[in-house]
Amino acid sequence: MDKQRFQLMLILAFAMATTDFVKVESLANGLGSTPPMGWNSWNHFSCQINETLIKETADAMVSTGLAKLGYQYVNIDDCWAEHDRDSQGYLVANGRTFPSGIKALADYVHSKGLKLGIYSDAGYRTCSSEMPGSLGYEKKDAETFAAWGIDYLKYDNCNNGDLKPMERYPQMTQAIMSTDRLIFISLCEWGDMHPATWGSKLGNSWRTTDDINDSWESMVSRADQNEVYAEYARPGGWNDPDMLEVGNGGMTNDEYIVHFSIWAISKAPLLIGCDVRNMTQETMAILGNKEVIAVNQDPLGVQAKKVRMMGSAEVWAGPLSGYRTVVVLLNRSVFAAQITAHWDDIGIPPNTYVQARNLWKHITLEREFVGKLRAQVSGHSCKMYILTPVSQSE
Ligand code: GLA
Repeated sequence: MDKQRFQLMLILAFAMATTDFVKVESLANGLGSTPPMGWNSWNHFSCQINETLIKETADAMVSTGLAKLGYQYVNIDDCWAEHDRDSQGYLVANGRTFPSGIKALADYVHSKGLKLGIYSDAGYRTCSSEMPGSLGYEKKDAETFAAWGIDYLKYDNCNNGDLKPMERYPQMTQAIMSTDRLIFISLCEWGDMHPATWGSKLGNSWRTTDDINDSWESMVSRADQNEVYAEYARPGGWNDPDMLEVGNGGMTNDEYIVHFSIWAISKAPLLIGCDVRNMTQETMAILGNKEVIAVNQDPLGVQAKKVRMMGSAEVWAGPLSGYRTVVVLLNRSVFAAQITAHWDDIGIPPNTYVQARNLWKHITLEREFVGKLRAQVSGHSCKMYILTPVSQSE
C-alpha cells in the first residue's frame, strides 16, 4: 500500500470513529422523490365503483391532458373486492363490478402510460367492511398485488383489533418489498399515532389527518393539522393531508384555489378526487395549473410552513430550488384584507430585491420588491407567488 492510500485510510478510520452518523430514514424503494400525482375513486364515488369507471377515468386522464401534466396514478379505493377471500385465502376482485379482474385493468391502465393503484387495510376488514383487510394475509396480498401489476398501495387502518400500527404496518411493507415489483406505499393511518415520526421507515407517504370532506372548514383544518409535521416531509416520504376535493362542488372556485395552492406548497400528494370525465373548465384550470404543479414537484422537496398569522390573515412560505421562495398569502376570513409577507418571516435577506411571479394570474409583476410584498386578498381566497432574488442593495 502506498503512503497516500495509507493516510487516506487513517483519515477515514478516524472519521468513522468520531462522527455520529445521522441516519436518514427513507424507504429503500426509490419511489416518491417528488409527491405522487394522480386520481383516487373515493372522494367522488365512494363504493360506487366498477372497471368501466376506472377505464374511462384512465382515458380521461389522457384526453384532458392531466396525464401529461404528471398525474400518473389511477387509484382504486375501497370496495373493489368480493366480500370474502377464496378457499385458498386470496383476495378476489368483485365479480359483478370488476368482472375482467384487476390484472386486465392494470394492463389497460398501463397501455395508456399510466399506473394502477389499489387499496387494502391493516386490519381484519376495510373501512367500508365490504371486503377483507390484509392483516395476517400480508404476504399473500402483496404477492397478489405484484402479480397483478399494481404500482401503488393505499393501506388503511380500520377494524384493527386495537393493535398498534407498529404491530400491523411493517408486515405489509416487508411483504411488498419482498416482491419483485416497485410499489408506492401510502400509509393511511389518519395521523392517529403521529405517523410522521415513523412513517418514513414504512411508506412513501403517510396521512396526517382524518378524512377530508368537500367543505372549506374541513379543508383548512386538514391543512393546519398537516402543517405541524412540515419538518418530516422529504423526497421519498411525504405528509398526506388527504386527497383533493377540487371539482366536487362543495366549495367556491376561490376556495378550491386555496385548497390546491396549500396542498402544492405542503408537498402533499396531488390525488384528484373528482369525476375527471366531466370536469368544468374552472376545475381543469386549477388542477392543470403548471406553475403550481411545478411548486409541488420542485426537486428541493421542502414543505412550506405557516410563518405568520395575523388573525385570519396568514403567510405560508417555503424554499424552492434555485434560491427561490414560494409564498401564499391566505385570507381565512370572509372579508377582503391586505396581507404582507415580510422578508425576515420568509427567510429572504432584508436588502434583497426580488422578482415576483403571480402563479394564478401567470404574470411577473413589473416592479421589483425589497423587504416585503403586500397584496389585497379577497375573502376565503389566496394569492400565490414565487419570489426570485435579482439583486441586493448595500
Ligand atoms: C378511510 C380512509 C378513506 C377511504 C375510506 C374507504 O376512511 O381514510 O380515505 O379510503 O376509508 O372506506
